[in-house]
Amino acid sequence: MKASAIAAVLLAVVGGAAAGLNPRGIDAAGQIRLAYHGDDAMVVSWNTFEHVAAPEVRWGLSRDKLDRTARSDTSVTYPTSSTYNNHVLVAGLRPDTTYYYLPSPLPQGRPPAPYTFTTARAAGDPQPYSVAVVIDLGTMGRLGLTDHAGKGARPENILKPGEKNTIDSLAGTSATWDFILHPGDIAYADYWLKEEIAGFLPNTSIADGHTVYEAILNDFYDEMAVVTAAKPYMVGPGNHEANCDNGGTTDKARNITYDVSICSPGQTNFTGYKNHFRMPSDVSGGTGNFWYSFDHGMAHFIQLDTETDLGHGFVGADEIDGDAGEGASPVNATLNAQTEWLAADLAAVDRAKTPWVVVAGHRPWYLSKKNETGSICWSCKDVFEPLFLRYGVDLYLSGHAHVYERQAPLADGRADPRELDNPAAPWYITNGAAGHYDGLDDLLPAPQRQRYSRFALDVSNATYGWSRLTFHNCTHMTHDFVASNNDSVLDSATLFKDRRCSLTKGGGSHGNGTVTTGGQHGNGTGAQTTTRSAPGGPVTSSSTKSLGATASPKGPSATHSSTTVPVSSSGSRVAAVTVLGLVGLFACL
Ligand SMILES: [Fe+2]
Repeated sequence: MKASAIAAVLLAVVGGAAAGLNPRGIDAAGQIRLAYHGDDAMVVSWNTFEHVAAPEVRWGLSRDKLDRTARSDTSVTYPTSSTYNNHVLVAGLRPDTTYYYLPSPLPQGRPPAPYTFTTARAAGDPQPYSVAVVIDLGTMGRLGLTDHAGKGARPENILKPGEKNTIDSLAGTSATWDFILHPGDIAYADYWLKEEIAGFLPNTSIADGHTVYEAILNDFYDEMAVVTAAKPYMVGPGNHEANCDNGGTTDKARNITYDVSICSPGQTNFTGYKNHFRMPSDVSGGTGNFWYSFDHGMAHFIQLDTETDLGHGFVGADEIDGDAGEGASPVNATLNAQTEWLAADLAAVDRAKTPWVVVAGHRPWYLSKKNETGSICWSCKDVFEPLFLRYGVDLYLSGHAHVYERQAPLADGRADPRELDNPAAPWYITNGAAGHYDGLDDLLPAPQRQRYSRFALDVSNATYGWSRLTFHNCTHMTHDFVASNNDSVLDSATLFKDRRCSLTKGGGSHGNGTVTTGGQHGNGTGAQTTTRSAPGGPVTSSSTKSLGATASPKGPSATHSSTTVPVSSSGSRVAAVTVLGLVGLFACL
């Protein structure tokens, strides 16, 4: 029986709509979140239960002197939402500066102390820093991932009693990184029906399903506010933002397959996602919350949309007639708008200021996964990879598959022979292991994995985690897989790019303002020293270590030194461990 014919069919109704749920969220914390808007402004967003005619943010450099006020007229909602999304641009700020702020009004009332945020580092600022990356992160607790689940859940995916989840880990480590990058699959509100069919959630009717959907969103954003009220939360679209039923949900007991026709208008077409965020596409030429870019210190970050608007005759997986059954519309009416923007954005990057170019997108195209059709976006490869190769993208981060796999630098499926030692091809990492209701997936068994796979974790490892990127200087960047349950690092690898840099504290470049490649290490000033123990070999390590090894996000130039240690990760792969001495004092001060 198809959903279009049975939209009025009720699940077993017990006690009315979503009995026991508070659709207003776990604690009505206001869902406070931040987004960079250049290095001289910040978007402050929060939710209220009523429309606000003039949402305002009082701000200042001292907690006792919030002497400035920013206001807007943006308080937006959509059908069936229980809240209004308020967005205020706070402008006229200094780069890399901490401010105190208070949004008003807040549903929880005035907090005991102002919140703080820190503006983006100016492009060209050589100070080392780290970024937290989460992908495929759902609500935790009563509506999502917790220490029990409904029928059909794999026991490996259920949290152990008291086990820290990824939001806990982010909250506990937030002093060590600057901002969160979350390229898609946010909250998993569209899992409400699957969770109800499994008997995990209080039953409700299809017609009232939007109340559960909205409750999951509200819970998630309230849970995340413990970090997103202080650290910018830069997001991208994933398939679970698209509609209300996960692109098709089956109740096997009733022989019913639901589709997008059961969704209220407010739960289709990325509506909640469009309302909830204000990413900096207006200052980067992008489109809404779907594709945009921003600079932060020595890196240029690009967020892509792998769900819609691929152009070039391809139908995005989440679009009407797309493979995912999400039924969404394109978000830009111009043909090939996304790739034309991407080409122009990449061409305009000043590699003297931002030598690192990191691209995030929800779907991967390189992965050792069983279900290749649902997991791998081949059309994304067709439209994006040529531009990555042409413009020397350093790293592509993706998720979608609920696994972790670090791959080699790749060009059209072939591993760069230099591996991480100054490759010409972009490096690829997929980490969709942040966690949601039914957690982790399988990868292919190790002997069957792609030849370019370098390290992997899947449901057999039963470990949720997130990615930490650390930019040490213009030649070295480290990726860590951080286990959420104890903040340990289960996989670490460092990319080396052989290029000269000339960066200055406070941003910008000096001298000839160029970054050259292929030369000797250092910038010729004697200020930067980079050594590797195995010339020609990969500058990479794989080990278990504490968070203490990361660069201080606001500290002085990093001194990162690790010695050869036994590899004890839960994976079987033993990577080369290289003595790595990084002295980041390369700025021309
Ligand atoms: Fe996904």
